[in-house]
Amino acid sequence: MCGIVGYVGPAEAAPILLDGLRRLEYRGYDSAGLALGNNGTLEIRKAVGRIQNLAQLVTDEPVHGNRGISHTRWATHGAVTGENAHPHTDQSERIVLVHNGVIENYLKLRAELEREGHVFHSETDTEVLAHLIGKYAVQLGEPSADHLVEAVRLALREVHGTYGIAVMHRDVPDLLIGARRGSPLVLGVGKGENFLASDPLALVNHTRDVVYLKDFEIVVLRPDNFQIQSLAGDGQDYEISTVDFEAEEISKGDYAHYMLKEIYEQASTVRDAMRGRLSAEEATAKLGGLNMTPAQLREVERIVLIGCGTAYHAAVVGEYLMESLACLPTEVEIASEFRYRNMPMDKYTLSFVISQSGETADTLAALRESQRKGHRTLGICNNVASTIARESDGGVYMHAGPEIGVAATKSFTSQVTILTLLSLLMGRIRNLSSSDGLRIIEEMEKLPEKVARVLEMNPHLQDIAEKYENAHGMLFMGRQFQYPVAMEAALKLKEISYMSASGYPSAELKHGVIALVNPDMPSVFIAPKDALFEKNASNIQEVRARRGPVIGVGTEGHSELADITDDTLWVPDAPDWLMPVLTVIPLQLLAYQIAVNRGCDVDKPRNLAKSVTVE
Ligand code: AGP
Repeated sequence: MCGIVGYVGPAEAAPILLDGLRRLEYRGYDSAGLALGNNGTLEIRKAVGRIQNLAQLVTDEPVHGNRGISHTRWATHGAVTGENAHPHTDQSERIVLVHNGVIENYLKLRAELEREGHVFHSETDTEVLAHLIGKYAVQLGEPSADHLVEAVRLALREVHGTYGIAVMHRDVPDLLIGARRGSPLVLGVGKGENFLASDPLALVNHTRDVVYLKDFEIVVLRPDNFQIQSLAGDGQDYEISTVDFEAEEISKGDYAHYMLKEIYEQASTVRDAMRGRLSAEEATAKLGGLNMTPAQLREVERIVLIGCGTAYHAAVVGEYLMESLACLPTEVEIASEFRYRNMPMDKYTLSFVISQSGETADTLAALRESQRKGHRTLGICNNVASTIARESDGGVYMHAGPEIGVAATKSFTSQVTILTLLSLLMGRIRNLSSSDGLRIIEEMEKLPEKVARVLEMNPHLQDIAEKYENAHGMLFMGRQFQYPVAMEAALKLKEISYMSASGYPSAELKHGVIALVNPDMPSVFIAPKDALFEKNASNIQEVRARRGPVIGVGTEGHSELADITDDTLWVPDAPDWLMPVLTVIPLQLLAYQIAVNRGCDVDKPRNLAKSVTVE
């Protein structure tokens, strides 16, 4: 996902922009650039690769200015080249723009502009928008703040698709313009200076006071004031929020990578997901954010859980939880499928969209589609100010703190914990007695300590990582609650180590998967000591009979598993419906260690973005 940082104020803009871009690196990108305006000049620097390359370019070819816009690009239209990196200018080269999103009708707009004599230098949709703004600016006459705002407004009215933009004009000093539709953009409110950013994280060293722009809003920034307008030109009310995360929350601390730090945060983040939400007195979970009374929840006859990637895997755990604890029919859908399929949903269906970032385009679209069909749609999000959090009809916040590593870790266990709370709540409304509820609460209250233990239980994990780091691929298998863990573990491994990996229900082995088994294709069986252990054990024997190496993940002390596997990772005992929070952790660590051993960029894996705000 692209990142935007803008500044207007008394200070030199370049260091502020570079600092902000560095804090957005986690979003994933492949090139970066900035533009500075200074007394009638406009200077642009762009570099392919890491932000350090841009910083070095700015050192070698200094640029000065008290206002600027900058960008990290995650390529959508056009290859990863210097020409395609942002910022982009209009025909006159006096207007410059950075953009996050996708302009779906850019080819049509480009053809029209080319017919009018415009010449383009990149393959991007963004350059087309810059030229469109420039076209209207020329029509409006002498450069001025009002003319620039009107040119932006006229251009955006022709755009189909999504945008978060920052714009400035060489000859209109002390002014930045921002606008958004579908891609997040916040205004950072400073003292005698103002900022724009895709994520408040970029501004944490400068201000914590932010305004989250809504879709179809335009903001006009000057050093000592700002105005927010609608695309139609009406003044907009706004609310200044104070960002609550601490700078240390977004530093790696003593860890080598954000991902490792976030894996080790899980004892506290699982606790935070439950904090204040378990009521022993009522033997149930308290989730006020649902904005639904028990009577309204009692009417629910079906649940639909929707998400992408890791959030989807958490949703599959949620399906087993909801059916097991609440006897409630539950369906899970990948957000990009849900938004286009015509799923029959009767009026007693309650939908949940699950998203760590709260900005994933397909999940946001699924939320809107579910609401369009008249269904109350709740969100399970980590980013409280995100679009999904703001547009859903209520929901449950994860309180997991910023997740910087592109690979989701603590967000998965937080989402599963919240889905467990939700299943307890729905179960107590439907079929669970208070003693059932108390038993569940007692087990949940032990969970953070068990998470802390599992993080330290497998000192031999590094040896296992070394043993298999060059394998051709890895198969992950599990049954029931462990099937989604198998999928999640496979996603972790593939996305950070680039090793081929896939997750299946164990019994699928005989339906084709076993053809992949060979000495260079280890199989990981997530086989805790539960009612299905013997079934898993049979599958393990089938793999071993074909000389496939087997790594087991099992309940500590269960020697029967160690006897039939080449290597074993252990977790503390827990009820099967709580096990996913535990069994995923050694597999997060295994994926991490293999990726490190393979020299991969763990926090910023190739081709990936932390939040996919484009379709
Ligand atoms: C998982 O490790 C990936 N980062 C990715 O699959 C992610 O889970 C997915 O893009 C959904 O992101 P969200 O939770 O922010 O919506």
